[in-house]
Amino acid sequence: MAKVAKKNTLKLKFDSARNLAPAPESKRAAKIDPQYDLFINGKFEKPVSKKYFATINPATEEKLSMIAEANTADVNKAVKSARTAYDKTWKKMPPAERAKYIYRIARMIQERAREFAIIETLDGGKPIRESRDFDVPTAANHFFYYAGWADKLEYAFPNRKTEPLGVAGQIIPWNFPLLMAAWKIAPALACGNTVVLKPAENTSLTALKLAEIIQEADLPPGVVNIITGAGATGAAIVNHADINKIAFTGSTEVGKIIQRAIAGTNKKATLELGGKAANIIFDDAPLDQAVEGVINGIFFNQGHVCCAGSRLYVQESVFAAVVRKLKDRLETLIVGDPMDKNTDIGAINSKAQLDIINKYIKIGQQEGAEMYQSSCAIPKKGFYCRPTIFTNVAQSNRIAQEEIFGPVLAIQSFRTDDEVIEKANNSPYGLSAGVWTDKGSKIFNLTTKLRAGVIWANTFNKFDPTSPFGGYKESGYGREGGLHGLSAYINLIK
Ligand code: NAI
Ligand code: MG
Repeated sequence: MAKVAKKNTLKLKFDSARNLAPAPESKRAAKIDPQYDLFINGKFEKPVSKKYFATINPATEEKLSMIAEANTADVNKAVKSARTAYDKTWKKMPPAERAKYIYRIARMIQERAREFAIIETLDGGKPIRESRDFDVPTAANHFFYYAGWADKLEYAFPNRKTEPLGVAGQIIPWNFPLLMAAWKIAPALACGNTVVLKPAENTSLTALKLAEIIQEADLPPGVVNIITGAGATGAAIVNHADINKIAFTGSTEVGKIIQRAIAGTNKKATLELGGKAANIIFDDAPLDQAVEGVINGIFFNQGHVCCAGSRLYVQESVFAAVVRKLKDRLETLIVGDPMDKNTDIGAINSKAQLDIINKYIKIGQQEGAEMYQSSCAIPKKGFYCRPTIFTNVAQSNRIAQEEIFGPVLAIQSFRTDDEVIEKANNSPYGLSAGVWTDKGSKIFNLTTKLRAGVIWANTFNKFDPTSPFGGYKESGYGREGGLHGLSAYINLIK
């Protein structure tokens, strides 16, 4: 007996979470072509521009593939194809038929979920656990949800008649590449619009994989066109005269450019821009649960989240306890290879974004805030940032006012409800907020007074296709998700 017991004793020593044996997902389970063309009118076509750019894996800096760069002529082709598909096919199709295509896309994403998750992680640096358990299933859910509405718009808008807008130009960012494509495409199709979508230049691959699915699903050619490129390609979509609606998610800076560009035209727009969310902990909150919510709020997806809880307000009497718990928790976060299933924080999406984050970390120190970083080692190659918290932060500090879009948290204390409401609302942004308290009355008081589009109580970063999402102030306008998400793609005509 003693012998058996000895044989079963694992040699591995888990003296901390960081020493877990590696559990890598396999790269081989996904196929990435050496080169990708533009998806126009149901086919992959070489760009008129003849230009391609590289997409890299930010965790290793290795090149993954070459991506076509669409110029104005390519954008013209894509918009023309979307217009023809709209006039000749999609707007005339019975809504229940349209729904079948959207369901088919949802099911095919599920079938190829592992492949999508691997490519999302390789191209963007996010932990495989997040791609696998959040991005890909939530993307499929958006298609399922909006497929259900396609033939029920008369119930979504009782006693009104609806019509689609026409051709939607959709421009998305690099933080949730597949999920943002789903947020944009699913409601547009359900309402009878056709689409020209441009993914962000760092993360085009899953959108192009989605194009493969759309082709296999036999969607009528031209209903969805996916064209790749950087800002200039996006601008050509925005400025195209035959686009009826622009849906944009990205920086407030580009949001403002788009708003100026479409002023005086008939183009409709929804803009989902930056954020600087306040996460507020009252002294009656369950502190361990709140600390987990704060960790998730700022370190999920390396903090590349528009609704990230990047400002933490802790009631004075529990301030020291919360900061200690946060520091302890920071030490247990596993930072490193995004393909490892144990990893909590993967690679920063690009060198440019890492430079922005490091710039703010310097600014925070120069402003006199006190920095604390996890002592973890980070890989030598690739773009990584240690999870970072700042205390001794003033409300006027840039790290408390500006969007950093990285794993950096600015912590302040407060005494009263009124004080924290004022501090939380003292921001150019207003996308989301979090409230942690045992008291329902406090939750109601804060949710009515915080100027934020989404407010979570005793949780954070919860998303559901049925729930609208969008901002106040410089976080943009318009809502995506739920019934509200349909309104953005229809005209009410009677
Ligand atoms: P960005 O706003 O430049 O990129 C988002 C998308 O817009 C990309 O597809 C890009 O190609 C496109 N784009 C760029 N210029 C355009 C133009 N003039 N017209 C039309 N489309 C255009 O964001 P970037 O430069 O990648 O990130 C910079 C900062 O923006 C980040 O540090 C972060 O603070 C913020 N950001 C916020 C996001 C959010 O979801 N709130 C998403 C991405 C970035
Ligand atoms: Mg990439």
